[in-house]
Amino acid sequence: MMNGASSHSKSIGIWMSDKKSQKLNWKELARACASHGYNLIKLDLDRPLEEQGQIDIFLHKLTDIIAAADQGDPKASLIISRVEQYLSNHPHIVVIDPLDKVRILLNRYRYYSILQDEPSFKKQGIFTPTFAEFTSTNIKENMEIMQQRGVTFPVICKPTIAHGSKSAHEMIVVFNEKGLGVCKPPCVVQSFVNHNAVLHKVFLVGNRYHICERPSLKNFYASEDLAPIFYSTGEVCKADSQSTLSILDPHDKADIRMTPNEDKIRSIIRVLRKEIGLLLAGFDVVIDNSSGNHAVIDINVFPSYDNYPDFFEHFLDCIDESANRTCSEYNGECNSLSDDYAASHLLNGLMNVGLEPSRFGVTGMNLN
Ligand SMILES: Nc1ncnc2c1ncn2[C@@H]1O[C@H](COP(=O)(O)OP(=O)(O)O)[C@@H](O)[C@H]1O
Ligand SMILES: [Mg+2]
Repeated sequence: MMNGASSHSKSIGIWMSDKKSQKLNWKELARACASHGYNLIKLDLDRPLEEQGQIDIFLHKLTDIIAAADQGDPKASLIISRVEQYLSNHPHIVVIDPLDKVRILLNRYRYYSILQDEPSFKKQGIFTPTFAEFTSTNIKENMEIMQQRGVTFPVICKPTIAHGSKSAHEMIVVFNEKGLGVCKPPCVVQSFVNHNAVLHKVFLVGNRYHICERPSLKNFYASEDLAPIFYSTGEVCKADSQSTLSILDPHDKADIRMTPNEDKIRSIIRVLRKEIGLLLAGFDVVIDNSSGNHAVIDINVFPSYDNYPDFFEHFLDCIDESANRTCSEYNGECNSLSDDYAASHLLNGLMNVGLEPSRFGVTGMNLN
């Protein structure tokens, strides 16, 4: 397959926040782009996009700005409407990922509903824990909403809007009715799944995926006396987090450790590809320690890909595939992975890149 370098050069316009941009390994990205025949243009959203060169692909991490715009922030609204105008004036530009698809994942209630409605999950031992949305602080009313929707204590209370600020990741474990007083609407409450403090994060690049393990919350049980526990996701679930909330209680320690079932992971990926269709996404899975069923508790737009082997290569392979209209249906060709390798790791069109020895020595998309 031609990699495009010998025909005309195409351009990828990229935008992300300064904070993300400072961490990005630009040198590696530019090198990988060049080897696939792409120019890289760093976009400035404060200047007209028309003046920044012709682009074929618009790659962005606009989640926080879209979330702020949807909540009425005037500056964010202006930026997003300019981007949308620009993209509608240039319909040939491939957007990674389309803003309307990104919007689905900004709202936890919305994406949990898609997961809950998925008919194929139940028979495969996959589920999303029961959940409900609170729009008021009326405890009696909220108890009724929970009962109607089968949500049981303990629950995790999460802000409905999943992006846009640090507070989107401020969580509360609530053990009983009186604890519900701390929930700040709009929020979702979700039944807690005991999972022995192990979180599995799955990172997707098109049809390719990588699974990582992270620390998570210890097991919790409903109780009339326990006060709510506040935590932020970063404190507990980062690779190097050492929260006391992750240390199992002695009576929980005998439980066997479970590893993810890859057939189940692939089923989840297929559903997300079909129902939401983002090229760059990730999701969180915890394994119910009594049933072994896999619970999808979170879906993310353009996650950090910190440990994803050869991220840039896989990303560009995938762009080439989508440019050739083959991204959803793998056609047996592969630009920079050997065909033998690809064939042996493709299972129903999905490829676990973690099984591959890293050939470029570059892991993730960041410097560190
Ligand atoms: N239903 C649940 N049962 C058990 N633990 C959960 C549940 N939902 C979330 N958690 C824990 O809380 C963390 C943060 O929740 P998550 O929905 O992933 O929010 P974020 O958007 O901040 O990543 C998870 O990584 C996991 O450790
Ligand atoms: Mg998460």
